[in-house]
Amino acid sequence: MDRIRIVGGSRLEGVIPISGAKNAALPLMIASLLTRETLTLENLPRLADVRLLLRILGNHGVDHAIAGKRPGESAISGQTLHLDAKNIVDTTAPYELVSRMRASFWVLAPLLARMGEAKVSLPGGCAIGTRPVDLLLMALEKLGVGLDIEAGYVIARAPKGLTGGQIVFPKVTVGGTHMALMAASLARGDTVIHNAAREPEIVDLADCLIKMGAKIRGAGTSTIEISGVTSLGGARHAVLPDRIETGTYAMAVAMTGGDVFLQGARPELLQAALDTLTRTGAEITSDSLGVRVRRGGGRIHSVDVMTDPFPGFPTDLQAQFMALMTRADGVSRITETIFENRFMHVQELARFGAKIHLEHDTAVVTGVPTLKGAPVMATDLRASVSLVIAALVAEGETTVHRVYHLDRGFEQLEQKLGACGALVERISGGD
Ligand code: EPZ
Repeated sequence: MDRIRIVGGSRLEGVIPISGAKNAALPLMIASLLTRETLTLENLPRLADVRLLLRILGNHGVDHAIAGKRPGESAISGQTLHLDAKNIVDTTAPYELVSRMRASFWVLAPLLARMGEAKVSLPGGCAIGTRPVDLLLMALEKLGVGLDIEAGYVIARAPKGLTGGQIVFPKVTVGGTHMALMAASLARGDTVIHNAAREPEIVDLADCLIKMGAKIRGAGTSTIEISGVTSLGGARHAVLPDRIETGTYAMAVAMTGGDVFLQGARPELLQAALDTLTRTGAEITSDSLGVRVRRGGGRIHSVDVMTDPFPGFPTDLQAQFMALMTRADGVSRITETIFENRFMHVQELARFGAKIHLEHDTAVVTGVPTLKGAPVMATDLRASVSLVIAALVAEGETTVHRVYHLDRGFEQLEQKLGACGALVERISGGD
């Protein structure tokens, strides 16, 4: 397994191109199951999760082709992927694949909508909490799906097709909203999703489905209305820029000091996080080409945050912000409201000398003047990148183990940071 070695102390200066969003790319790829025609996705990030989902879709009979590099494109430009689900050959998603990536459970919705049946393994637990699927299944039941759970598999049937209905989510769920959108697009009649997730990735999926012929109104608000159609066609769609990658690098610059232009980033996708960073003392400006983050030599101010569904402060930036607060000039309270156990990074940050204690759903971080490099272990995707942020300012050397977590969601992390002056290298092999 690869490791990443970081020598702390360099300011970040330069340009970081922002990749297509992982959490938009995955549902968009899954939407290819809804049509016999070709779905072409541009600006697709090169990530382990994308490659794994291609294998999962391949198992259902989806063919794919990745377009070669065009003149003028750099290695960092997103890829163009053609997905072709003309013939669905298998409606089962096996445990071996679904257990490796929770989002693959979402294939249940398009398989049902198109084939009237599907058998998908329950995704199981993960390092950030129990993450049940009750709301995802409830949404499908509201659309007339019959469900059984047998030997760890959800067996779902809608032999006469899906029918529109009222879906009321008691809690905002991104995956539930993605599944409801896909299923309702091919249901008979009208569906209304109440308390829908408003995340930009939902809007991106809805935009793509509309290009494919779906009739969807209100994506990006809490009430989404869908009038079902009998079939969907092919489309071409560019994946939106990754707001979590944007926020991660913005926090890295706020941590190290420096001046970095995040090329292609869209500030409106993460305004709450950027406003919080401004309060810590970073200077943030933007134009139509991206977002610029600067911080001079002053101290980092401590700021309290609470995670919330969009447009609130994203849970996927909580660990990175905690890393920043370990060096702030006071006490910061960071409250996690989305996942009950998303604090696995606390004990690893403590290895750098960070002072953090947990009070139920809140981490109380007391800033320290220096962090010291240490061997640390990545536990999940966002937790691992928080360790990288800490390492960038830690005295001496840090080795981050189990970097496959990083490879799931950050494209060319070492190259992007290295190009801005960070001393980062990947060491192949080891534990
Ligand atoms: C998506 O996960 C993202 N994943 C997560 O990003 C992100 O943290 C999360 O949304 C919240 O923003 C992808 O987009 C691939 P949820 P999802 O359903 O859809 C509870 C990352 O690092 N819930 O919105 O699985 C659930 O336990 C990942 O990129 C139920 O109770 O999240 C949680 O407390 C990690 N029952 C809350 O809802 C259900 O049936 C929100 O989860 C479903 C969810």
